[in-house]
Amino acid sequence: MARTHNDMKSDSKLTHEKDVIEMEITLRPYQLSDVDDFMEWANDDQVIRSSRLRHYTTYEDALTYLQEEAIPHPWYRAICLDDHPVSFVSVKPGSDHQRCRGLISYALGSKYWGQGITTVAVKLAVPFVFEEFPDMQRLQAIVDVDNKASERVLEKAGFIKEGVFRKYVIVKGKTIDAAVYSLLSSD
Ligand SMILES: CC(C)(COP(=O)(O)OP(=O)(O)OC[C@H]1O[C@@H](n2cnc3c(N)ncnc32)[C@H](O)[C@@H]1OP(=O)(O)O)[C@@H](O)C(=O)NCCC(=O)NCCS
Repeated sequence: MARTHNDMKSDSKLTHEKDVIEMEITLRPYQLSDVDDFMEWANDDQVIRSSRLRHYTTYEDALTYLQEEAIPHPWYRAICLDDHPVSFVSVKPGSDHQRCRGLISYALGSKYWGQGITTVAVKLAVPFVFEEFPDMQRLQAIVDVDNKASERVLEKAGFIKEGVFRKYVIVKGKTIDAAVYSLLSSD
């Protein structure tokens, strides 16, 4: 049986690795009432610059994104500090013959970088995702080879680097080489 929102909240608390902050890190679905917290990280230039995300500068635009994309998404969770969203971690499950895999993505408001928060969030997400999608045997991440912080998050969360796709995707107008990382449900 799929876990409920409340199950996930209570199960997904994890002690912060570096004790830099005392706040509790949890994952939960976004709600429309999170729009102000969402806009804070979704307009953070440092976050947007190094990801495929775009700015959400108006309240209406942000609400539309939450309503039409984040909330109906198959697996999109707010990374929360004391229940306030500071970013997201998402998994896009493959369909049909690709249902054995999912693509994980994440970001974090820049004022919280370097404290181990995203690593904790990814570690929290992994068991929930494998449980919610029983056909999924592989989680993968596609990361700009210049995004060392993101590569490090994946390494710390137990992902294995499998190689580099050269000139793989265009991010903010630049065609990047992308590292592919994976974690199997059997790892
Ligand atoms: C990538 C991102 C999510 C990391 O979040 P975070 O919470 O700061 O990550 P963590 O603190 O858990 O771990 C970061 C690690 O990278 C390391 N790191 C940071 N910048 C680095 C750099 N330039 N070179 C090498 N290592 C670096 C940190 O030292 C830390 O490793 P350590 O614990 O061994 O010291 C955050 O920087 C972000 O939101 N970036 C913009 C969006 C993005 O890139 N998303 C990923 C797209 S694939």
